[in-house]
Amino acid sequence: MSKEQSPILFLDSGIGGLSVMQAAAKLMPHQQFLYAADYAGAPYGTKSEAEIASRVPALLGRLTERYKPSLITIACNTACTIALSHVRAALNLPVVGTVPAIKPASLATQTGVIGLLGTDATIRQPYIDRLKDRFATDYIMLKHGAPELVNAAEAKIRGEKVDMNIICDALNGLINQEHGQCLDHIILGCTHFPLLLDELTQYMPEMIFLDGADGIARQIQRLMIENGTPPATQGTPKHHFITSGSLEDISAYKPALEGYGFAQYSQI
Ligand code: DGL
Repeated sequence: MSKEQSPILFLDSGIGGLSVMQAAAKLMPHQQFLYAADYAGAPYGTKSEAEIASRVPALLGRLTERYKPSLITIACNTACTIALSHVRAALNLPVVGTVPAIKPASLATQTGVIGLLGTDATIRQPYIDRLKDRFATDYIMLKHGAPELVNAAEAKIRGEKVDMNIICDALNGLINQEHGQCLDHIILGCTHFPLLLDELTQYMPEMIFLDGADGIARQIQRLMIENGTPPATQGTPKHHFITSGSLEDISAYKPALEGYGFAQYSQI
């Protein structure tokens, strides 16, 4: 396969990374993508740092060997806040990460109180404290782990109804903290959560929810151009979905995945 045809690979524990891939597809509508969902290792948010730090580079190593991508996007905040440096050390190709949009939220807040919703593993990472110290020193940042939103997003893609109690509980986990009534921006620090934006907005219409997907998409495009593998400029791409779980388990996802442009399904 020539360098120009090498695919762009996205990785998440499940379908959360589609929120990032969708932003990339909007910016590069003709580019074909490979999307890997690590269902055999999901969810990541309840795993230990050691498990994520060994699993993610090993899986990306196997995917790289098989599919020879020219660029990898780790479309998962949990994996990035723990394993981004391990992946970069292990693989000799550009790796784009996904980290919570703390900087944009701190630039936009009027009240000086921002919220971060993520997985339990993400919100306890020192990486998050470093981002807060760097970009939001003078502000209050409330954090809440909402793993149940991961399951809710997975269920939504399978065509199931989202339980609004789960949405309320997750948001109340921030609002009920001290200073919670002053929140004006909530960072969706897990790539699954933007897939629930309609439901989150339905519960809190005045709140501004932020994620980093558009910035990540621009970063992918910039690196592709810099590396001499610019995005395709014509054709309708048929994306390829790879699962580390069973193909049977993703059959309920297929109607939604077709809407994202997937036409090929494989197992690794
Ligand atoms: N989508 C992932 C993230 O951004 C994690 C979901 C999970 O497996 O817990 O953190």
